[in-house]
Amino acid sequence: MRLKSDSRSRIEIEKIIYLNTLDWELQKANTRYATHGYHPYSAKYIPQIPNYLISKFSEKNDLILDNFMGSGTTLVESKILGRNAIGVDINPLACLISKVKITNLQKSDLKNVSMICASMKEDILAVRSHVNLTNHENRNKIIIDDSLHPNIRKWFHEDVLCELVIIKKRIYSIENRDIRDFLLVALSSILRSVSNAASGFGNLMINKQIILKKKIYEKFVFAVNYMINGMLEFNKISTKSNMKIFNHDCRSLVFINDETIDFICTHPPYMAAVPYAEYQKLSLWWLGFDQYALEKDLIGGQRSRADTPDRFFRGMHIALMEMKRVLVKKKYCCIIIGNPMYHGKVLALNDFIIKEAKDIGFIVLKQISRGKYKSTMGKMKEEFILVLKNE
Ligand SMILES: C[S@@+](CC[C@H](N)C(=O)[O-])C[C@H]1O[C@@H](n2cnc3c(N)ncnc32)[C@H](O)[C@@H]1O
Repeated sequence: MRLKSDSRSRIEIEKIIYLNTLDWELQKANTRYATHGYHPYSAKYIPQIPNYLISKFSEKNDLILDNFMGSGTTLVESKILGRNAIGVDINPLACLISKVKITNLQKSDLKNVSMICASMKEDILAVRSHVNLTNHENRNKIIIDDSLHPNIRKWFHEDVLCELVIIKKRIYSIENRDIRDFLLVALSSILRSVSNAASGFGNLMINKQIILKKKIYEKFVFAVNYMINGMLEFNKISTKSNMKIFNHDCRSLVFINDETIDFICTHPPYMAAVPYAEYQKLSLWWLGFDQYALEKDLIGGQRSRADTPDRFFRGMHIALMEMKRVLVKKKYCCIIIGNPMYHGKVLALNDFIIKEAKDIGFIVLKQISRGKYKSTMGKMKEEFILVLKNE
């Protein structure tokens, strides 16, 4: 017995020492290989982080959980590394993007995708000449058919709307669910760049000097071709492991039995730094998702309000209890957590998670600081990787 526990702790020490040898800043890492570059998603983590951690803390065919899945980075890496995985996110857009990133489409499906895109061209060209020749009323006839969000016209020029509506209608007529979802993600990925928003990423504000965006269909086709190439690469390197996605609140993982998860690798929301429902509202509107319902249920991923820290602390406490319940005893859990600026001060969320984790019975094995990494939103001052073990 003595020997067994000694050798286990030796292996554990070796794993931890190995983590010290890695470059966690990863400033020059390629972050867009395979399907990783499909869709912008605020505060994604770079794929090398879950890749290192999954490789070190789990074995082939193990079951991995990411309970704050976001755009599915952990799941893509799990599928590449031959691990089964469960992803959970309360954001339906996150679930759609993740599903498309891990669903292998074969060459025949991808050929179909290209054919469907080509079949839209005639309608687009007809509408372009029609739109050029006619007035607001005629454009309206094209747009009005669709059940669009009441504010959509503020965000898109009418000419742009005409093309987007044609593309969307054609996509919704596709019966094959995987192909339909693939094309919906392509459409969603270009929405912001063809809108009247001031920039392509982050804070969503209308540009004061509206620039008419042209060739929307061509931009869509470009996105589709980019995704096809990504899928061909993913097909070569991914395995046949099982993936499940739940569009659910991770404070209640009712669909996961006690002690069934072999490793958790997750990245909770950046408190008060990335209001997901607001930043992603154009995609949520076009895809028919409810921006306000999402806003209500997010832990932390909201604009700063008086109760923001409380909500985050309470939410994370419950999420951690669930993580402890589903994780097999003596197995590991890695949490990537960023410390935001809040009311002029850096809020030490890493310290909060460490304390909570210890209180509910995790052992904290290591904290790695990612150093002066390039922050996406400019609001995150530090980022940490916490290595926990289920006692
Ligand atoms: C920092 S992001 C994760 C990004 C992910 N690592 C990636 O690479 O795309 C945090 C995620 O937590 C999700 N989230 C927030 N509150 C949640 C909740 N109560 N249950 C499940 N997911 C939640 C947000 O929708 C967001 O996608």
